[in-house]
Amino acid sequence: MIHPEHQRRAYLQAMGIDVWLPREAAEPAVVESPVSNVAPVHDLDWDELRQCVADCTRCELAASRTQTVFGVGNRNAEWMIIGEAPGAEEDRRGEPFVGRAGKMLDEMLRAIGQSRESVFIANILKCRPPNNRDPKPAEAAECRGYLERQIAMVKPNIILAVGRIAAQNLLASDEPVGRMRGRRHDLNGIPLVVTYHPAYLLRSPSQKRKSWRDLCLAKALSMEVAT
Ligand code: URA
Repeated sequence: MIHPEHQRRAYLQAMGIDVWLPREAAEPAVVESPVSNVAPVHDLDWDELRQCVADCTRCELAASRTQTVFGVGNRNAEWMIIGEAPGAEEDRRGEPFVGRAGKMLDEMLRAIGQSRESVFIANILKCRPPNNRDPKPAEAAECRGYLERQIAMVKPNIILAVGRIAAQNLLASDEPVGRMRGRRHDLNGIPLVVTYHPAYLLRSPSQKRKSWRDLCLAKALSMEVAT
C-alpha cells in the first residue's frame, strides 16, 4: 500500500510540480512508481465490435482517416479513461493518446498506481477530425453506440472524462470543465469524474494540482464501488 502523502508527492513530481517540504521531512519522493450488418452494436462481442468500428463509414471522417482508433488497455479494467478524438499521431498509429498529451496521461495514471495496460482508454470519436478540429455533434452521435458498447463490456467502476469534449458529450452538458470537475457525476450508474485534458495541462501546468484532486476523487469513488 502506497502512503497517500508519498503518492501525492510522486504525482506532483511526475507532473513537473516542485514539492516544497520542511527540511526535516525532505526525503526523496517515492516514485512508484456502428452498426454491423449482422447484429445491432449492443449485441456485438469485443472482436465483432472492433471489426465493426474498423469498417465504419457512418460519418465523413471515414474518408480522411488513416485508420480507426478503437481503444487500448484492459478489457476488464476498473478504470476507463475517455478523451476526445484521435490526433495526427493516434491516426497514424491506431492507438489513443500516444502523442505528447499521451505521455502526460501516462504520468497521471502512473501517479495513481495505474497504467495504460491496467485501464481502458477510448475516445468520443474513433476517427481523427481533420486539422484537429472539434468533433461535430453528428459525428459524436454516430460514434456513441460504439463507446457505449465498450463501456457495457468493460464494466468499469470509474470513468474519467478528460477534457471538455469528453465531459460535455458523455454528460450531455454544456458546462465548462472548470464547473464539471471536482465532483461525482453518474453515467448509467457508473461514477464519472471530469478532469482537465492532458494537452491542456501541458499548456497550463498550474492546473495540475486541481487535476490531482480530481484523480484522488476518482480513486476514492472507484474504491467505494470495489468494496
Ligand atoms: N487527445 C485525445 O483526446 N485523444 C487522443 O487519443 C489523443 C489526444
